[in-house]
Amino acid sequence: MPENKEIRRITTHTLLKMKEAGEKIAMITAYDFSFARIFDAAGIDIILVGDSASNVMAGHETTLPITLDQMIYHASSVVRGSNRSLIVVDLPFGSYQGNSKEAINSTIRIMKETGGHAIKLEGGEEIIESVKRIVSAGVPVMGHLGLTPQSIYKFGTYTVRAKEDSEAEKLKRDAVLLQEAGCFGIVLEKIPALLAKEVSDSLTIPTIGIGAGNYCDGQVLVMHDMLGINIEFKPRFLRTYLNLHDLVTGAVHQYIDDVKSKDFPNEKEQY
Ligand code: KIV
Repeated sequence: MPENKEIRRITTHTLLKMKEAGEKIAMITAYDFSFARIFDAAGIDIILVGDSASNVMAGHETTLPITLDQMIYHASSVVRGSNRSLIVVDLPFGSYQGNSKEAINSTIRIMKETGGHAIKLEGGEEIIESVKRIVSAGVPVMGHLGLTPQSIYKFGTYTVRAKEDSEAEKLKRDAVLLQEAGCFGIVLEKIPALLAKEVSDSLTIPTIGIGAGNYCDGQVLVMHDMLGINIEFKPRFLRTYLNLHDLVTGAVHQYIDDVKSKDFPNEKEQY
């Protein structure tokens, strides 16, 4: 949407202030113009153009297949639908793991071709050089720790991460490293609530949880999960706010009936 000068865009600075004030941050994923427009107008703080698009938009089993070009398509559509939320775009698998030059080149493409405001990438110590390089180019970076779906074949399962002390200690160290490298926030995915509390309390930047309990500074959900479009996915952490699957099914059944019975279109619905 054209920038509405009356509406103030959320910035990374706003998010820091929200953490300081104890105001929780609400983030949701979106992948297209129409839903972005609804979420933005509803007052969501951050829209994440997640690489979960690979699952929920393209039907892949993992987030690995989605390409940078496909992320750019989704992100530019979302940007056109928003004028208030901060738009964060995931760097997809294979677009930054090679080295920091690859990471900055992918970031530059996202920033130039989508109009998004920040990028997110998964990992800790191993991506710090890339984070520093992207931040030094003036691009806000969000980290992502805990269950990092781009490494699913390393983990082998989607179960809760960092239950063991050694993994929890590494996660705490990684969170501090990401903050020191200049990240403006960190997504914590599927880790114990008390570990998420410890991490959130130790950082000045906000943490955004998904399956990481109520002590995080904000929460994120995948839109297809929270709207009940994706009914097969029912993890314990998910709250479903709508059963869009059944509502849409009912509407389409009705439409089919109306067409078959010649009820649609009626006299008022024709020229
Ligand atoms: O891709 C995505 O949707 C994400 C969220 C699960 C945080 O990274």
